[in-house]
Order: sequence, then structure tokens, then C-alpha cells
Amino acid sequence: MQTMLATVFHGVNDIRVDSVPKPSAGPGEAVLRITATTICGTDLHIVRGEYPVRPGLIIGHEPVGVIEELGTGITGYNIGDRVLVGAITPCGQCRACLSGQHSQCGHGSGCQAMGGWRFGNTINGAQAEYLLVPYAQANLANIPDEVTDEQVVMLADIASTGFGGAESGGIKIGDTVVVFAQGPIGLCATVGAKLMGATLIIGVDGDENRLAMARKMGADVTLNHHECNVVEEVLKLTGGGVDVAIEALGTQETFESCLRCLRPGGTLSSLGVYSGKLQIPYEDVTAISPKQRFLLEHMY
Ligand SMILES: NC(=O)c1ccc[n+]([C@@H]2O[C@H](COP(=O)([O-])OP(=O)(O)OC[C@H]3O[C@@H](n4cnc5c(N)ncnc54)[C@H](O)[C@@H]3O)[C@@H](O)[C@H]2O)c1
Ligand SMILES: [Zn+2]
Ligand SMILES: [Zn+2]
Repeated sequence: MQTMLATVFHGVNDIRVDSVPKPSAGPGEAVLRITATTICGTDLHIVRGEYPVRPGLIIGHEPVGVIEELGTGITGYNIGDRVLVGAITPCGQCRACLSGQHSQCGHGSGCQAMGGWRFGNTINGAQAEYLLVPYAQANLANIPDEVTDEQVVMLADIASTGFGGAESGGIKIGDTVVVFAQGPIGLCATVGAKLMGATLIIGVDGDENRLAMARKMGADVTLNHHECNVVEEVLKLTGGGVDVAIEALGTQETFESCLRCLRPGGTLSSLGVYSGKLQIPYEDVTAISPKQRFLLEHMY
């Protein structure tokens, strides 16, 4: 049996580089020799036990590599091609996929919540020497020669998630946007907001290096949550609330802050992976005027 090295989840705060069996491609599958991959905030949730996966799973969901093996039934790709694969590997043919809901792919039948995200979640992932790609026909993208592996590795998940957060927020030209957290996901949401035409983008983080990067990547204003009351500042800067708030951390606190920063009728686009229970506070989503709020506060 041929073996390879891979990053294996054994339990909370216990990941190890192990020698494991090298995969081989069945019909419709491909095996990549991984040449670049990275670590996502979601991997941190997995390692800390905040997002459960089964012990023995190879983690990682950002694959760039060279095709090592191709199963039967795949056309348009050759052994040796340099390819990028998305973090989610939808089948391309089920009801969810045909309706454009690729993250909820049901693998041939119906829909499955988060069923499209499989690498390092429900099947072995990319932090390994080799990776088995399911539904390869729907999930391989050739990389142009003039583009390096490092230039595309963020597209597998991090940039596409950030851009997706801006798109799901329905940002329009001239909108005001706040992005809570400026990790890689939040930074890409900031760029996404800029590309979609927002004219005031407020980036929030507690790390000055990340805030400096946010300004480089399109934030007009940055707020350090250790140094100010972010919600108050955002309401002041926008004259009553942003059109779109993007949550890019995954905590109850930042989710609630997003709600409080919104103008009435604004949109919250939520990207963070929340561990445990996320509660939606009723008082932050009901439309009440300051006068009504005053009356309510004085009724009890
Ligand atoms: N929806 C998806 O498909 C998807 C995909 C990838 C990642 N994610 C999730 O996105 C989230 C962010 O991922 P990442 O890789 O950017 O994480 P990261 O850990 O690299 O960055 C988090 C950032 O949050 C900042 N931060 C901490 N507390 C804060 C607070 N109270 N207010 C503002 N900022 C604060 C930190 O300083 C850091 O810069 C994670 O929950 C991850 O699981 C979701
Ligand atoms: Zn990820
Ligand atoms: Zn599908």
C-alpha cells in the first residue's frame, strides 16, 4: 500500500502529521498532488472543538495541485494539469445544484444543509500530499500558466467566501457597509464591498496590523473594538445605521453588534461559523422609533 503524509484531526487541540494511505481515483474522481494549501479560520474552530468532525479525518479545504490520476468519465483535463478546486465540491446534478444552491448539495438527491462542503468536513481534506476530488468533472479549474499557485490559493474558499458575503448582502452603488472582523475572510468581504460599489466601508477589528491591511484593501474608516464603542461610532458615521453589515468572525457578540449597526430595513450578511447556539435578540430586529423605545423603556 502506498502512503502519504497528512494533517489528521485526532481530537480537541490534537492534530498530527501522520502517514496514511494514499488515495486512488475511482470513476468520476481525480487525485491531485497538492502544491499549495492554507489554513482557514474554520480549521481553528475544528481544532478547538468548536466545529465537530470525526477523529481520523484529514483537515483542510483549500486545494491547489497537479492532476496525478484521473478516473474514467472525465473529459477536458489531463494528468499533469495544474488545477484549483473549490472548498465545496458539489455534484453539479442534484436538485440543490441545479437550483444554484451548491453549498447545500444533496449528492444526487434533494438538498443537504452544508452538504456541498465536504473536504476536511465529511471527507478527507487538502492538508495532505495527495487529495481525492469527488465529482471531478464539476470541480476542477485549470490555472493559467501566468498565474502562480499562491495567487489562486485564496480563491478556493477565503476570497470567494468574502466576495460571497458582499454579494449576499445585496450591496448597491453608494451603500454604507460595516464589516466585523478583518481576518482573511473579513478583508475579502471588504474588497467585495468595494467592488460592488459601496462608498463608505467601515472595517472593525482589534488588531492594528489587520486594520492597516483593511485600509489598503478598501476600508474608508477602521475602528478598533478595544478602543471605542463600535456600534455608537457606526451610527454616528452613517447618520443612523449602515445599509449592510457583514459578520466575519462567528460570535454572538459580533452578530448582535451587526444587528445594532443596521439602519431599519438594512441587511445582515453572516459569514462566521458560530459554535453552539446563536440567538437573535428580538429587541434588535424590531423596528421601533426612538419615541416608542422611550415609552417601552418607561413602561416597566
Ligand atoms: N461561511 C463560510 O463559507 C466560511 C468560510 C470560511 C471561513 N468562515 C468563517 O469565517 C470566520 C473568520 O475566518 P478568518 O479565517 O478570517 O478568521 P481569523 O481567526 O483569521 O480572523 C478573525 C479576526 O477577528 C478579529 N476579532 C476578534 N474578536 C473581534 C471582535 N470582537 N470584533 C472584531 N474583530 C474581532 C481578530 O483580531 C482577527 O483579525 C470564522 O468563523 C470562519 O469559520 C466561513
Ligand atoms: Zn474555510
Ligand atoms: Zn449536488
